[in-house]
Amino acid sequence: MTEASGPKRIIIGCDHAAYQLKETLKKAMTAQGIAVTDAGTHSEASMDYPETGRAVAAKVSSGEYERGILICGTGLGMSMVANKYPHVRAALCNDLFSAAMSRRHNNANILVMGGRVIGDVLALEILRTWLETPFEAGRHQRRLDMFDSI
Ligand code: RB5
Repeated sequence: MTEASGPKRIIIGCDHAAYQLKETLKKAMTAQGIAVTDAGTHSEASMDYPETGRAVAAKVSSGEYERGILICGTGLGMSMVANKYPHVRAALCNDLFSAAMSRRHNNANILVMGGRVIGDVLALEILRTWLETPFEAGRHQRRLDMFDSI
């Protein structure tokens, strides 16, 4: 997969509610040749989502990773955590249209999904769309510049 068609490396994190989905997404990305860094969690044992949310968001915020994925039960908690970090544009996408638009217009650098909201097949389609859809820049870049440094 080239830079033009999607990222070559991704950092992913989840909580217990989305552990199984994380394993599914990791397998799919690895099969596509994407190098996946797993920030945990590593089992279905109950844990606190801000822990892994912070681990992923910090590395996207610093530029160490261009893109990341965060999943929890609803996707809401992970979105709230990630969007506290500068330069993070985390988009909760539980449908395909949002996934495409989050890339085209918002240049989303973290994809968030809710493992208890959507099934694996839809999650995989959302992931594929999000990885492959480019940012349109132009007027959308101006709009991102208006809040990206907050
Ligand atoms: C865990 O029970 C649940 O609260 C978490 O996965 C997430 O949905 C939080 O927003």
